[in-house]
Formats: sequence, C-alpha cells, structure tokens
Amino acid sequence: MAQFILNGQAVVAEVDADTPLLWVIRDELGMTGTKFGCGIGTCGACTVHVGGRATRSCTTPVSSVEGAEVTTIEGLSEQGDHPVQEAWQHLQVPQCGYCQSGQIMQAAALLKDIPEPTDEEIDGVMSGNLCRCMTYVRIRAAIKDAAQ
Ligand code: FES
Repeated sequence: MAQFILNGQAVVAEVDADTPLLWVIRDELGMTGTKFGCGIGTCGACTVHVGGRATRSCTTPVSSVEGAEVTTIEGLSEQGDHPVQEAWQHLQVPQCGYCQSGQIMQAAALLKDIPEPTDEEIDGVMSGNLCRCMTYVRIRAAIKDAAQ
C-alpha cells in the first residue's frame, strides 16, 4: 500500500512498494497526463514534481514518495494558467504533444529554481527531456516568455 498527496489530495493505492510512481498515477489514480516514454529515466515524458522537484516517475518506486507531495500536469495550476502553460499556449509549442506535459513540469521546476535562466541554463536543465518533433526552439522561447 502507498499513501501520498497527489495534486493536493491525500491518496491511497493498493500496490506493491516497488511499483513505479508513473503506473500508480496513471493506472491506479487515473491521472493520465503523465506519459510513458522510455521507462528507464532517459526521456523525461513521465516528469512530475515530488516535493516541488522534477522527478522521473518511471524510475521512482512509489514507496519512496510515501507521505510526499506529488504534483502532475493536472495539478500544476487550477485552470491551466500556470505561467509556463500560458507561454506554451501563446507560442504554440506542442506538435504531437506527447512529451509536452513532461516538458512543462520540467520547465516549471526550472523556473522555480532559476527565475530568469540563461539559454545555457535552460538547455542544461531541459536536455534530459526529449522531443521527437524537435520543438526545442519553441520550448526555449516559451521558458523565456514564462520567465518575464
Ligand atoms: Fe520516464 Fe522516459 S518514461 S524518463
């Protein structure tokens, strides 16, 4: 059994302790905005926040978030109006969209740590979030936009 706070709500899931957080979020708790890409921590599609820090949920055993605050794309803002989400819409970042919730969660964590990042800082932090549609130029522009 696992217990933690998901998007501000206390949740309980009847799962094995080593179940990846990604599958608990998606399959047990119905939050499907968080995506499966590689399953080995290298693509970033499954990025959520744990205690405010960007975390790869595919390689995070649910036992390691016991009692912690987990935020998914569904809980990032009340109305989809987090500055990063607004910048993403304003600059029409997504193409196929599959990786974008992970991109947004990584970018939101970046801006919390570094409110006005340089291009190098953006590229350094975002380099672990892959996009097969190559939206990287728009992602960087949207992070700059959100930082203003
Ligand atoms: Fe988790 Fe790729 S699915 S990093």
